[in-house]
Formats: sequence, C-alpha cells, structure tokens
Amino acid sequence: MSQASLCPTANWSYPTSVRFGAGRLQELPEACAAAGIRHPLLVTDPGLAELPMVKRALELLARAGGKPGLFADLKPNPIARNVEDGIAAFRAGDHDGVVAMGGGSALDTGKAIAFQVGQKRPLWDFEDLGDWWTRADADAIRPVVAIPTTAGTGSEVGRAAVILNEADQRKYIIFHPRMMPKVVISDAELTLGLPPPLTAATGMDALAHNLEAYCSPSYHPLADGIALEGMRLIKESLPLAYREGTNLAARGHMLSAASMGATAFQKGLGAIHAMSHPVGALYDSHHGLTNAVVMPYVLKRNRRAIEEKMTRVARYLGLEGSFEAMLEWVLALRRELKIPHTLAELGVARARIPELARMAVEDPNNGGNPPPLSLADYEALFADAIEGRL
Ligand SMILES: NC(=O)c1ccc[n+]([C@@H]2O[C@H](COP(=O)([O-])OP(=O)(O)OC[C@H]3O[C@@H](n4cnc5c(N)ncnc54)[C@H](O)[C@@H]3O)[C@@H](O)[C@H]2O)c1
Ligand SMILES: [Fe+2]
Repeated sequence: MSQASLCPTANWSYPTSVRFGAGRLQELPEACAAAGIRHPLLVTDPGLAELPMVKRALELLARAGGKPGLFADLKPNPIARNVEDGIAAFRAGDHDGVVAMGGGSALDTGKAIAFQVGQKRPLWDFEDLGDWWTRADADAIRPVVAIPTTAGTGSEVGRAAVILNEADQRKYIIFHPRMMPKVVISDAELTLGLPPPLTAATGMDALAHNLEAYCSPSYHPLADGIALEGMRLIKESLPLAYREGTNLAARGHMLSAASMGATAFQKGLGAIHAMSHPVGALYDSHHGLTNAVVMPYVLKRNRRAIEEKMTRVARYLGLEGSFEAMLEWVLALRRELKIPHTLAELGVARARIPELARMAVEDPNNGGNPPPLSLADYEALFADAIEGRL
C-alpha cells in the first residue's frame, strides 16, 4: 500500500500555511524560502538534537545554501533563560528566522526567540492579558517555520508560547497574533518513534484542547465545528497510535487533531489548563499528562454548565448521548493509555493545595471555564484530584 493511501498529502492555509503529509520534511528549504528565511536558527530540545531527523533537517538546509545554526539548550517546561540563550545564539549566528522543530517545548521556545529578539520590553510584558500584545513592535518579529514532532500542543498553528517564570514559579502565556508560524511542515513520519507514554500524554493534551474549547461558553461556531471533529479523530486514532506507534494513518490523524485543538482554543480553554499550569510549574510534570489526570474531575465539576454540550459530543462520537457516556469514555481512554488516576501519583502533595488553587484562579484560562471557578472551588477540585474522589 502506498504511503499516500495511509496518510494523505495536502496543502492547507488554515489558519496558517500547512504542508501536511508523510515525508514532507524534505520540503524544508522551500518552506523556509516561502517564509522569507535564508539562514535559520534551528531550535529543538536536547533529546531530539541527537536524533537523525534533526541532523537531516540541518543537512537539507545546508544543502540548499543556507547557514543553519542549532540551538538545543532548553528544558521540557521552557524557562526565560532558554529564550535569552536562544536570542544570543540567533544574534551570534546572524540568523534571519527560526525553524522550530520538536514538541511544544521546542516550538514555544523557538516562537518566543523569534518574537522577543527584536523587542525592547521584557518578555513578561507580553503576557496574554487584555491588549498587552499591542506593546510589541510587530515589525521586529522574525519569521518561524514550525515542524511538530509530537501530536499534542498544536503550538505549530498557535499564536502563543508558554514560558515558565522561575522568579514566581508561574507559567506565562506570551501572546502576539504574529507569533504564529508562517509555514508548518506536518510530517507524520517524524512522530512514528514517539514512545507510548509520550504518545498518550501529548494526545491527551490535544483532547483537552478540543474538549475545553468546545465547552468554553463564548460564541464561536467555527471553533466548535473544528473541536468536534478533532475529538472524533482522537477517539479513533489515539489508542491506535499508542498501541502501534508505526501506524502512519493514526499518527497523521493525531497530528491533524493536535493542530485542530490549537485552532479551536482561540475560543478559550478552561479549568483543566488552569489546574495543569500550576502543577507543571511547581512539579515540572508533563503538561499533557497533568491535563489527562485532572480532566474527569473538571468535567464533573462543570457538569451543570456543560451537560447539553457533552451530550452532543457523545452523540457525535458514537457513544450513548449523555454526559455519563462522555465521562465513562474519558475514564476508559485514560485507563487504556495507562494515565494515573490521581495527582498524588504525580507527586502532588495536599500541603500545596492553597498555593496551587491561588495560581489556578489567577491563570488566564480560568476565565474560559464554564463558569470561572473560585478559590474555594479550586481547593476542592485539587483535593479531589489528589485523592481520586470522583
Ligand atoms: N503554545 C501552546 O499553545 C501550548 C499548548 C499546550 C502546551 N504547551 C507547552 O508545550 C510543552 C509540552 O509540549 P509536548 O507535550 O509536545 O512535550 P515536549 O516538547 O516537552 O517533549 C516531551 C519529550 O518528548 C520528546 N520527543 C518529542 N518528539 C519526539 C519524537 N518524535 N520522538 C521521540 N521523542 C520525542 C522530547 O525530546 C521531550 O523529551 C509544555 O511546556 C506546555 O506548557 C504549549
Ligand atoms: Fe495544553
């Protein structure tokens, strides 16, 4: 069977220019040219930097006549110093754009480097609050080509980068409309080697994006349509990609669903992310895994507000049309993917509940939850999620 019949090839401008299909990494030089980049800094994480796919990307760029540089000094939950060091490498190599290749951590760091390299104000001044993004000099933002190697965050089509501020141990969402990559290469072959636990955790992040965006109360039928189909692709493909890592069709659908989640969540996210960010900041836990653990507790807490929507999703997913059926499906999927049931299993201690709840209530994503929750609500939710009370 040909690769095209397993994983179709297509060109999309939705919301950005996406070159989707197996083997399309080889189009990297054309993608850079289309983005106006001649001498890119390739930003990736230290693990990926050792893998053949990054070496191949650098070779392709060098063969096309560019002077590519490599920056791979970044953490899984990237911190401001990673962005600062990347900016120094960008300037030292006289680069004119970024190729961000990897999971959300590398994509976000690469996007933040290209954004911040020409700005005069500190990174935190561009947090996703009100119109703070208008403080930025938009013409100084350098272009980015994004190449996801996980199917989760959807950062390749997003307008934000999540960076941890070590001074206050908080994850900041840095936002600018022009932070969105100019071109995306969505090549499912790059995700075939993602180990099962990471396939599960990143795939559950994609589910959290589609699910929270769909439940977010603002009016955005375009995003709602995308989120629904994103959830269907995840239901069909995530267990398959987890069991059979080399299943190209399943990997391709998961890449689509991840981009769809990030496209949809410009509508808003909710308490899953508002809880996950502080846990990630204080415990350095994986973002998608943390989302997956807290997901059923948040769904149950939001039940009254989302019952009708969950019923609609359940019908679309081919489940019995009810809130219970959705909750049962999420719980069964978590079991199948060997996701822990409690935050205690991620090391989260009861003693930190006041701090976690305060951070969650202040997280910008709390505003998108139906309805925004209070400090007392989050204290109760964290207690439930730590002790497994559903
Ligand atoms: N910008 C956004 O909109 C957005 C949304 C959600 C999450 N995030 C952020 O993204 C980050 C999480 O990203 P992630 O879940 O993709 O994980 P990640 O980028 O932290 O990567 C996790 C691990 O997977 C490895 N890996 C990546 N691709 C691989 C492959 N193909 N084969 C083998 N190993 C591979 C990496 O080397 C790393 O060790 C967090 O910092 C989170 O806050 C951003
Ligand atoms: Fe997320």
